[in-house]
Amino acid sequence: MFQSKIAGIGYYVPKNVYSNNDLKRFMDTSDEWIQERTGIKERRYADRLEETTTTMGIEAAKVAIERAGTTAEEIDFIIFATLSPDYYFPGCGVLLQREMGMKEVGALDIRNQCSGFVYALSVADQFIKTGMYKNILVVGSEKHSFALDYSTRGRAVSVIFGDGAGAVVLQSTTEAGKGILSTHLHADGADAEKLAMYYPGASGGKWLDNKPQWPEQELGGMLMTAEMLEDGTAFPYMDGQTVFKKAVVKFPEVIQEALLKNDLRTTDIDMLVPHQANLRISQFVQKTLGLPDEKVFNNIQRYGNTTAASVPIALCEAWEEGKIKAGDLVCLAAFGAGFTWGSALIRW
Ligand code: UT7
Repeated sequence: MFQSKIAGIGYYVPKNVYSNNDLKRFMDTSDEWIQERTGIKERRYADRLEETTTTMGIEAAKVAIERAGTTAEEIDFIIFATLSPDYYFPGCGVLLQREMGMKEVGALDIRNQCSGFVYALSVADQFIKTGMYKNILVVGSEKHSFALDYSTRGRAVSVIFGDGAGAVVLQSTTEAGKGILSTHLHADGADAEKLAMYYPGASGGKWLDNKPQWPEQELGGMLMTAEMLEDGTAFPYMDGQTVFKKAVVKFPEVIQEALLKNDLRTTDIDMLVPHQANLRISQFVQKTLGLPDEKVFNNIQRYGNTTAASVPIALCEAWEEGKIKAGDLVCLAAFGAGFTWGSALIRW
């Protein structure tokens, strides 16, 4: 039986730093409000034209591949998680494959938003455990800045999100008890519309109360209307309080599920790396689990919420800072749109 281990990890964040005060140029907001509600001080934004979700993913992937002591040619499968792809289709996986000059290996795109990286890691783990692949590149990357509403109308959403990418090379190992111990995935579509970007989409607004007026024609014409850009329905929607309330229940639940599965306790965790949704959510989870400050890693203060990229960026920083060492028990956990959530327990 094969196990999978993280053989290399890397991250990339764009150079452009936007502080809370910088955002005041675009909307009515304040550093106090943002810090008090989310813990965020600043975030990074990609270059508007030169950087894409794929290019940032590539930068993170290069570091992960080098640290794994392997090469792009040796990668035998790609999994790319994002909610902000370069194209509506095809996904970023094939773009990364092309730009990195990789072989004709499979490329899978994951659309699970904030839990996208944990889902991607879980899928990769299954492929390795069955012996199908040996070196899987798992990437989480987001360029949120291209499509948020940076006016006062959109401030409750736009101040939270930032751009960046993280990647790991998941490698096959026969070392017993090392690497990914287990992964746990969940979803509940009951609140799918509470955190979503509805358009462009084939629903035409079917699931929504405020259905748009589509042009009267027999076929087509249901992509997006000029009114949607004007009234803001073209932008992502979030019912923040519903997300918050569900997240603080599901994070601890899925962490406990992982511990139980492995006959471990919260005191066994050396480092919890939660998805960086909101510092208040992380603090709530930390308190619920009774973990000390040094066992929970947070960097949302500097990057905001980078959705599918947040877990690998945080994991990489924690490791680079020497906060994760060989033999440590590391727990990853994420919750987000869908709602979908998940966890992974790793013996580093
Ligand atoms: O990865 C999962 C992604 N999402 C999350 O994790 C989000 C979870 N939810 C949250 O973090 C919080 O719900 C938010 C931080 C998004 C919002 O905090 P809240 O306490 O739920 O605020 P609210 O949306 O109820 O808004 C409270 C007030 C409103 O003003 P009034 O109506 O009380 O006058 C908003 O208009 O704060 C106002 N507001 C702002 N003020 C300054 C909303 N956004 C801002 C802003 N700056 N950026």
